[in-house]
Amino acid sequence: MDENTLSRRRFLIETGSLATGFVTGAGLVGLAACAPKEVIKEVPKEVIKEVPKEVIKEVPKEVIREVVKEVPKEVIKEVVKEVPKWPWPYVQLDVEQVRKKAHLGYYQASCCYGAFWAVVDSLREKIGFPYTQMPTDFMIFGVGGVADTGGLCGALTGATAAMTLVLGKDDWKKVVKELMNWYPKTPFPSDISNQYAKDHKFLVDKYKSDKVFVSSVARSTLCHISVTKWCKASGFASGSDERSERCGRLTGDVAAQAVLLLNQYADKSFKSVVASAATAECVTCHTLGKDYKIGQYTRGEEECVVCHKPHEIKK
Ligand code: HEC
Ligand code: HEC
Repeated sequence: MDENTLSRRRFLIETGSLATGFVTGAGLVGLAACAPKEVIKEVPKEVIKEVPKEVIKEVPKEVIREVVKEVPKEVIKEVVKEVPKWPWPYVQLDVEQVRKKAHLGYYQASCCYGAFWAVVDSLREKIGFPYTQMPTDFMIFGVGGVADTGGLCGALTGATAAMTLVLGKDDWKKVVKELMNWYPKTPFPSDISNQYAKDHKFLVDKYKSDKVFVSSVARSTLCHISVTKWCKASGFASGSDERSERCGRLTGDVAAQAVLLLNQYADKSFKSVVASAATAECVTCHTLGKDYKIGQYTRGEEECVVCHKPHEIKK
């Protein structure tokens, strides 16, 4: 609550008790309650000071409450807080709790929602406002690489959106990049998530599967590739309960990693290590730029050698 709204609210309460104090009866209660806000504001300061403390004390509590209850709607609206500008505040979160929460979120409304909701709802619990004002249902859009088209993995979409919400405009990109580059080389589901499922340590009541799964490395951030590689590695069909559970565990793993990075960022231990030496070299020429001839007809910073072979450099 900022200074203004706080003092305004206090002022209203004081004004109410004052008004009743003067007349020492219920007579003025109604008047104060219906008074337009200009009148309330105009109670002169000197008058406020002059009211003896004992009188204020003697106003019965019920009367004060009644006055506050009956504050006209226009005045109540004034104390509603404005949602702050980006970025929103962050406090360190429990990585394992977020892993479990995101898995639960996946069961509620898919990968993208699950990762986003796990972070936002954890901050809602820890900080309250403004996270109480953040809608999360719409984050279902990222399911299966946006509307099941197999584009960017939804867990990444949700997690990077939540990360960006709490990172400032100067730093969001470098921290988000770290997650984006961690994903393609990471085996999913993680051993931790496999173990949680086996021991029923996740937050869901009924598991689609509590088996320990084979893990696979996607070497891509795309849903299509990530899911397909895992299906081929595990022998489960893409529409199976097992594949769905695998994506639930992955959603937990991605949200947990996002929060790990945010925690590092918050305590200033974050270090950017995104590109491998090979990729760093490729992007000296192949990068977003204006010189077509030197190779600037591409963009992106994913690990190049996953898909391409290095080539000789013509002089
Ligand atoms: C010194 C600048 C430079 C660097 C470094 C460089 N490239 Fe290139 N690359 C080029 C240019 C220029 C072309 C176009 C060559 C041509 O058309 O003959 C090219 C062409 C390519 C092509 C298309 C032609 C082919 O050979 O298949 C691919 C793919 C490619 N580069 C990938 C990479 C990767 C991956 C790396 C890093 C391992 C890399 N490049 C590093 C300048 C560079
Ligand atoms: C997930 C796989 C993947 C990754 C990672 C990737 N690329 Fe590509 N790249 C492709 C595909 C697919 C094409 C389109 C090839 C085509 O149409 O022939 C392409 C095209 C290109 C081309 C033009 C090829 C040509 O024939 O002229 C260049 C150059 C290139 N990529 C460089 C890079 C560099 C540099 C990186 C790393 C920063 C990178 N790519 C990362 C898959 C990838």
